[in-house]
Amino acid sequence: MKHVEKILVTSLKGGVGKSTVSAALAAAFAGMGSRVLLCDLDFRSRSLELMIGAADRTVFNLCDYMTGDVDAGSVFVTIPVRAGLLLFCPAPDEEAFGENGDANLEDIPSAITDLSKAVEADVVVLDTGAESVTPGLLCRDFAETVLIVSEQSRTSIRAAEITAGKLTKINENLDVRLVINDFDVKLANRKARAGLLEMIDDAAIRCVGVIPHDDSIPLIGDSGILPTFGPVAAAAENTAKRIKGETVPLFKKVGNLRRKIRF
Ligand SMILES: Nc1ncnc2c1ncn2[C@@H]1O[C@H](COP(=O)(O)OP(=O)(O)O)[C@@H](O)[C@H]1O
Ligand SMILES: [Mg+2]
Repeated sequence: MKHVEKILVTSLKGGVGKSTVSAALAAAFAGMGSRVLLCDLDFRSRSLELMIGAADRTVFNLCDYMTGDVDAGSVFVTIPVRAGLLLFCPAPDEEAFGENGDANLEDIPSAITDLSKAVEADVVVLDTGAESVTPGLLCRDFAETVLIVSEQSRTSIRAAEITAGKLTKINENLDVRLVINDFDVKLANRKARAGLLEMIDDAAIRCVGVIPHDDSIPLIGDSGILPTFGPVAAAAENTAKRIKGETVPLFKKVGNLRRKIRF
């Protein structure tokens, strides 16, 4: 049986870059030739369909699949990528899982497992909202790698630490990793913002990637363009390779960050 990378992207804190990192990682894996399934599981505030340019083509969502209204072949939006395959499964509204809803939250891990098998995915990337119920279920019954995203602030590092603690309690076999996002080397060097070593130390989670701050990210996200070029894409590719077990220098191809950083 082939190995499938089952990656959950999460943090209890909102706005730290979970969706940005999910999109960039999914694009990086696809760029490396993988068949990637990217699911939006932020039922309260779904945003991926806008960020990756799928909004106009989104017809069905995960709930429609879970209730049997559509089959696996119809629920996806195919996102154009230069290599590999990127299939996107849109999120339903949170009411779909409420008292009067059609679907049961508990069934999400088996639905994702079925979808992933149906498309023969090599990599599954799950973007979640700033909550712990859905990530908890997926950590119990699906995910193997958990990427906890933190931006360069003590509050989001604190949230990362708490998130890791909660999820590890649910499943101690998880490979829990820290992704530092929106990293600004100038602010770190001026000590205006936390430095890398300090963040990794405070979070006490093994770091698998550092994604730099890039002014163009909010703009391309708003235009529905995947980050497939530039420093964020390069850092996402480095992270994707490390998840696959490769050893990659921290800032390979990420501009000249390596020379600028002071530890
Ligand atoms: N590396 C980055 N550089 C610049 N802006 C970023 C970066 N990562 C995220 N952002 C911006 O931060 C905001 C929040 O990101 P988002 O991915 O939506 O966070 P979350 O999914 O955790 O709520 C967005 O406007 C996004 O464009
Ligand atoms: Mg998000």
